Amino acid sequence: MGNDNKIQGINRNLTSYGDTEFSKYMRRAFLSSAGFDRQDLDRPVIGIVDTSSDYNTCHRQMPEMVQAVKRGVLEAGGLPMAFPTISLHEILTSPTTMLFRNLAAMETEEMIRAQPMDAVVLLGGCDKTVPAQIMAAISADIPAISVVAGPMITGSWRGQRLGACTDCRRLWNMYRSGVLNDSEISEVEESLCFTGGTCMVMGTASTMACLVEALGLMLPGGATPPHASGDRLKNCVASGRLAVDLAAKGIRPKDILNRESFHNAITVLMALSGSTNAVVHLLAIAKRSGITLCLDDFDTVARKVPVLVDCKPAGSGYMEDLHHAGGLPVLLKALEPLLALDAMTITCKTIGELIEDTAQPGDWQTTIRTMDKPLKGTGSIAVLRGSLAPEGAVIKTAAATPALLQHQGPAVIFDSPEDAVRRIDDPGLKITPEHVMVLRNAGPVGAGMPEAGALPIPRYLAQKGITDMVRITDARMSGTAYGTIVLHCSPEAAVGGPLALVQDGDLIELDVECRRIDLMVDEKELERRKLEFRPKPLPPRGWLKLYAGHVEQAHLGADLDFL
Ligand code: FES
Repeated sequence: MGNDNKIQGINRNLTSYGDTEFSKYMRRAFLSSAGFDRQDLDRPVIGIVDTSSDYNTCHRQMPEMVQAVKRGVLEAGGLPMAFPTISLHEILTSPTTMLFRNLAAMETEEMIRAQPMDAVVLLGGCDKTVPAQIMAAISADIPAISVVAGPMITGSWRGQRLGACTDCRRLWNMYRSGVLNDSEISEVEESLCFTGGTCMVMGTASTMACLVEALGLMLPGGATPPHASGDRLKNCVASGRLAVDLAAKGIRPKDILNRESFHNAITVLMALSGSTNAVVHLLAIAKRSGITLCLDDFDTVARKVPVLVDCKPAGSGYMEDLHHAGGLPVLLKALEPLLALDAMTITCKTIGELIEDTAQPGDWQTTIRTMDKPLKGTGSIAVLRGSLAPEGAVIKTAAATPALLQHQGPAVIFDSPEDAVRRIDDPGLKITPEHVMVLRNAGPVGAGMPEAGALPIPRYLAQKGITDMVRITDARMSGTAYGTIVLHCSPEAAVGGPLALVQDGDLIELDVECRRIDLMVDEKELERRKLEFRPKPLPPRGWLKLYAGHVEQAHLGADLDFL
């Protein structure tokens, strides 16, 4: 519809007036008011997706990044045209940005389709922005290159190096258990986010940036430069230049992506001990590309890949350490025997060609480890199945307590994130460390799948020094979080999945070694409870109604079924 690929530049995607030449003439007339002459308008047009927003501190210096991309586009002979799209900030968006990932993907796709551009530079960063933009570019089917905001620089408090948000959680837990007082937590609050940029641990933003580089949709070395660095601006300029080249060659994401690229991305995910959210996003991105990918692919790769990157929450370092250690190119070199080296990238070189001359991780640094001296063993994320998750669930074993990976205990139920907020610290619940805390009705249909899965340890247990318990949910958890938490149980409780049938006191068994999560209640009793299940009504109007009516389950990527 109005997207004739033979037409180039400013004459693409013409406004429909029933007179093509009139549409071109009107376009030139209005662009003249912005100072563009015919010489400008003969150039290839490079759209730049600008997700600057006062609400998005992770993108604080994005206006400067946009200018840097424009410089690269102009140097290469293109005409840069920046345009705004929805900007999603994890901390300032209610109830969860996941509810809006698909909205951002739809809006970005439609704006790419509706406006004239021969290629697009996608400026994202904060968690959902990057997968949304990649999903959009795949569906819009034009040449695209991803640029991320880059991580914050670490802060410091009383000699401790701090970063958002693994340290946010660790120190908040210390406050909840009485180790830190009010004035100390206020000081911490001012030290956690030292600069603009994305969370500087291996949370979802950092993970997705690395995976997009591994997929071949970003310039080599583009995932890790900090937001405030010159390296970040150089990446912007170089990406602007490459976008003009991509426009000339007509290379689209679908020309790059195949099963091998996803194999590489999953390999990197496991070596990073990256965010479990990446599982949902990669499934959605693969589906948009027409590539078959399922949860079992993650488990298969995970069993072969050790953790090589020492970043929080699984390790102790931060993204700037990964950058200074050489970033993704050096990690890919360390992973070379496990990668599909023929996978293509937007540079028109394969991954194998890109890392041919890259050195192995140097022994002058400890952030990127080698295969013979990994940080941790294989299986950083495991896929579980069983009577509580017939379609699958995931657990980040690398951020869990080893002793809890095999556990049996009685359930204590929270019927929604709000219910957990209300009751979790109630001593009347008599929760013990052996209990399994269940949070349900927090899946895609039930609540937009918030990052509520890392339920806090009840205050009265935290004060006794308990730092981890088994938790099970259809929600997600932040990539910066840690704990023995079974996530993304599918199908979710809101559509009648087994989590909906659990009652307080039922025995639950977790066995990560056998990849099982089971409810120890007999079939007949479950059948009886199933008959009593009544789904809650869907939201009455607007985006929430469209979303809840069409979102797919987590094991399929939680995209809308018509996208
Ligand atoms: Fe934006 Fe963490 S809040 S990346």
